[in-house]
Amino acid sequence: MSAAVETAAFEGWVREQLAQVEQALDAWVPADAPAGLGAAMRYGVLDGGKRLRPLLVRAAAEAVNGHCDAAMRAAVAVELIHAYSLVHDDMPCMDDDVLRRGKPTVHVQFGEATAMLAGDAMQALAFEVLTPEGEAGLPPALQARLVALLARASGHAGMAGGQAIDLAATGKPLTEAELRQMHRLKTGALLQASVLMGAATGPCGAGAWSALSDFGAALGLAFQIVDDILDVTQASDKLGKTAGKDMDANKPTYVTVLGLDEARRQAHALHASAVDALARSGLADTHGLRQLADMVVHRDC
Ligand code: IPE
Ligand code: IPE
Ligand code: MG
Ligand code: MG
Ligand code: MG
Repeated sequence: MSAAVETAAFEGWVREQLAQVEQALDAWVPADAPAGLGAAMRYGVLDGGKRLRPLLVRAAAEAVNGHCDAAMRAAVAVELIHAYSLVHDDMPCMDDDVLRRGKPTVHVQFGEATAMLAGDAMQALAFEVLTPEGEAGLPPALQARLVALLARASGHAGMAGGQAIDLAATGKPLTEAELRQMHRLKTGALLQASVLMGAATGPCGAGAWSALSDFGAALGLAFQIVDDILDVTQASDKLGKTAGKDMDANKPTYVTVLGLDEARRQAHALHASAVDALARSGLADTHGLRQLADMVVHRDC
């Protein structure tokens, strides 16, 4: 296949995946949750976002010829955790942001208490999605595996832990190693889990699992480095969130600690190591994962 044909095929694949994921999220996030909670949840989850984590789940599932229903549930679950993390990240007690995905943030639109509860409910819903009742659902062992991967990436040793470091580090200098650890936890863990949840839906030997784990870790860190870069290089209307926020809030980032050039260099080096890891996996069809890796590093929003 020529590069142009490959790119067109990938773009078609992305469109199809995004439509399916959007439909599944729409079906899962309840409009009728009590006292306005459903409206706030749907506002925070639907119609916005790049859906990179669901795409990683689906691409990894394709690489291992995984269980389709499991992969869709995993894609929805990880996006729900991510959307919840954004709702809380934007609240006045955290980053205090008013713009997200091109719209006023959930707490601006619905109030702080509702935003907090909407995030809580999205988190719980993610685990409901992974644990369907009845015989037509997923094998119990796979449910447990997916729950374990997502829980560990979301909690104290993953996203929530990284967010705690982020808040504690505001206004303080961090060493490069501390910064790397913060980014690995607050953002990298959930991206790595997206890849591994996809891989868990099909047969994946220890060597391929370890290579995909390395791929996810490198890509996850690269993703947050690029987020730090875009904060200073792009405008708010392009990002759909307030640009220049890290500097204003005095947050240590790859740009403030290492400078723009070194941040870019590290993002590219991580991309290269992610691509190497994919080659090591020995899996036949890693084309989607490779293209998503390119997207993470070359994106402009
Ligand atoms: C933003 O994530 C928050 C970070 C973890 C850096 P995304 O850039 O994936 O946000 P959406 O989902 O596209 O809005
Ligand atoms: C957010 O990091 C990481 C999360 C766990 C949500 P940021 O605070 O840099 O994300 P943005 O820039 O607000 O999207
Ligand atoms: Mg933050
Ligand atoms: Mg933020
Ligand atoms: Mg940011």
